Amino acid sequence: MALPEAASADNVETPVAIVSGLRHRFGTTLALDGMTFDVRAGELYGLIGPDGAGKTTTVRALAGLLEPQEGTVRIDGGDPLDPRSGVREHLGYMPQRYGLYRDLSIDENLRFFGDLFCLDRKTFLERRDRLLAITRLAPFGDRRADALSGGMYKKLALACALLHQPHLLILDEPTNGVDPVSRGELWDLLADFTAQGMAVLVTTSYMDEAARCSRVGLASAGRLILEGRPAELVAGFADAVLRVEPGTATCAEDVEAALALEGGAVEAITPLGTGLRVVVRGAEADRITARLETCAAVHRVTPGFEDLYLALAAGRTAGEKP
Ligand SMILES: Nc1ncnc2c1ncn2[C@@H]1O[C@H](COP(=O)(O)OP(=O)(O)OP(=O)(O)O)[C@@H](O)[C@H]1O
Ligand SMILES: [Mg+2]
Repeated sequence: MALPEAASADNVETPVAIVSGLRHRFGTTLALDGMTFDVRAGELYGLIGPDGAGKTTTVRALAGLLEPQEGTVRIDGGDPLDPRSGVREHLGYMPQRYGLYRDLSIDENLRFFGDLFCLDRKTFLERRDRLLAITRLAPFGDRRADALSGGMYKKLALACALLHQPHLLILDEPTNGVDPVSRGELWDLLADFTAQGMAVLVTTSYMDEAARCSRVGLASAGRLILEGRPAELVAGFADAVLRVEPGTATCAEDVEAALALEGGAVEAITPLGTGLRVVVRGAEADRITARLETCAAVHRVTPGFEDLYLALAAGRTAGEKP
C-alpha cells in the first residue's frame, strides 16, 4: 500500500527541523533550558524523557503554537511563528491531547482537516481512502471520535495530521494509553513514513520505544542529556544489569543484606516479578554475582534503554552533555 508522499529519501542528512537553544519559563517553572537538536528527512527522531521534561513545550514551539522566550526554531529554513514563511503547511502535528472534534465522526473529522488544508475534492478522497486503509479505520467511518478506542483515536489523529502530506510529522506521545498491538502498528506506520523520506519527531516516556527510533534525544529538565543512535548509546552503557531470584524469604533477606554492604557499587535495585533487577558497576559485576549466587539465582540481563536513562538521570554515565 502506497503511503503519503513526502520529501525524497535521498535527503537523509538534510535537517528539516532545527531547534536551537530554547529556553522557556512558565512562572517559576523553567520548562526549557537550552533544548537543542535537529530532525532530518527520512529520520524517526525520538524525544524521550519523563513527565515534565519539556517534550510538549518543545513540540509546541516547533508547531508554532508557543513563542519561546529564548532560542530559535526552523522548519525547512522558515520560522513557524511567521505565517508568511508558509512552513506550517509542511507540518503535521498530533497533539498529546484533544486534537480532534470528539462529536464529529471519523469521516467528518477527516473532511474538516481536508477543508482546513484546502484540498480539492479528488485529492481529498484519494488521500482519505488511502489513510483509512493504512490505519484500518475504513469500516468505522460513521463512528464519533468520542466513541473510538484509545488506539483508534490516535490512528484517526495520525490520519488527520497526514492528510496534507507534511515534510515533518510531529507526534506528541502517540502511544500513551494505547494497547500493545496498536502501539506496535503505530510504530510500524512511522517506520514506513520515514522510509519514504518524511521527517518524524515523536515524543514518548516509554523507554522501550527508544529502540525503534533512528536517533533519540534523552530530555531531562528542559534539555537533552544524551543524544545518539539507540544501539550505540546502549552499547556504551558501562553498568551491568542482574536479575536476582532469591527463591525463599530467608534468601531474600540475605540478598538484601549482601547488597546493602556493596554501597556505591550498586546503582539501582527495582522489584521485578518475584525477584529483583539490580544495576551494578560493570567492573564489579562478576564479584557481586558470585557473592549473590550463595543465596539466589543470578542472571546477567542485556541492559535496556531504561537502565541507561536511570543511570543518566543519576548523573553517572559518561557521555553526559554539559
Ligand atoms: N501552560 C503551562 N503553564 C504552566 N506550566 C506549564 C505549562 N506547560 C507546561 N508547564 C510546565 O512545564 C514543564 C514541562 O512541561 P511539558 O508539558 O513540556 O513536559 P512533558 O515532557 O511534555 O511531560 P509529559 O511527559 O508529562 O507530557 C512542566 O513542569 C509543566 O508543568
Ligand atoms: Mg507532554
